[in-house]
Amino acid sequence: MKIFAIESSCDETACAIVEDGTRVLSNIVATQIAEHRLYGGVVPEIASRRHAENISAVAAAAFEEAGCTLDDIDAVAVTYAPGLIGALLVGISFAKGLALAAKKPLIPVHHIAGHIASNYISNPGLKPPYLGIVLSGGHSHIVEVLDYTRYHVVGRTHDDAAGECFDKVARTLGYEYPGGKFIDEAAKRGDPKAFDFPHPRVDGCEYDFSFSGLKTAVINLVHNAAQKGEAISPEDAAASFQRTVCEIVTDKTMRACRDLGYKKLALAGGVSANSGVREALSAACKKAGVEFFMPELKYCGDNAAMIGCQAYYDHLAGKRADMSLNGVATLSLDKISE
Ligand code: KG4
Ligand code: ZN
Repeated sequence: MKIFAIESSCDETACAIVEDGTRVLSNIVATQIAEHRLYGGVVPEIASRRHAENISAVAAAAFEEAGCTLDDIDAVAVTYAPGLIGALLVGISFAKGLALAAKKPLIPVHHIAGHIASNYISNPGLKPPYLGIVLSGGHSHIVEVLDYTRYHVVGRTHDDAAGECFDKVARTLGYEYPGGKFIDEAAKRGDPKAFDFPHPRVDGCEYDFSFSGLKTAVINLVHNAAQKGEAISPEDAAASFQRTVCEIVTDKTMRACRDLGYKKLALAGGVSANSGVREALSAACKKAGVEFFMPELKYCGDNAAMIGCQAYYDHLAGKRADMSLNGVATLSLDKISE
């Protein structure tokens, strides 16, 4: 079964064709990062306009790369939540047009479910149930993946998402938006023990995260040094910050794995590209006898292949949308599992 998938929830206009949930026939991503970088973050109005301008060409490129026409497609899938509403609506409207023209079913896909599904593309042996750790620009979740379409979120962030924290710390250290990958690179040259940043306490659920205290600690370090006229090494700060994030994520995730009895763990979301996070979780899993899965780097950030993959399982579960499909800015994975 060939699914044409669209992703436009934030600042990447992406289309892909995926066969039977695993074979990626094409995967096109047009990023808008260079333009949003001028403003230090994603400007929603600009994102929507660029999606509208780019989506036809991106869709055409996805058909061409796969060597397919609309007649070869069995269903159209689109990210409908969560995300920037104007951005989502561009992808949804285009998907409706395609589904209507091709007389094929329309499958609504949850963005975070898509990130989790990126693991099925890269690791064909992975099957639910397993524990997922999703770290993206907008979300940080520890989630029980009960089956291909049912989830139970057991831990979430109380404030900043992991990616958001990477980006804000990066800005403080003088790196461009989005700074996660610059922190990753700088950390390789710095001393991870140079600074001791706090591990924030979180009241309530022991699997929940809090990243804003850590972010503030790095900002304070940089500002205090500037006031005293001292220079701090951005590489050392980046390395110490990344080490702390890795410790926090590994501690909470492995605790949940142990308590809930999971022997398989899958990492997903944009921050899953981080070399420190990949290594730390991989090492912790090895030590604990837990099988560890992560997406290939090309499927870590936003893309439509992951949406086409998840859509296959949503299709098997009977999920369909009609022409009244709307975008939803905020929607927990728990809600789509009811
Ligand atoms: O999942 P994603 O592509 O978009 C959302 O759904 O939010 O995640 C984007 C986030 C950004 O905050 C970006 O800085 C971060 O992922 N990111 C990284 C790395 N590559 C991307 N963070 C740390 N290390 C990286 N190598
Ligand atoms: Zn994402």
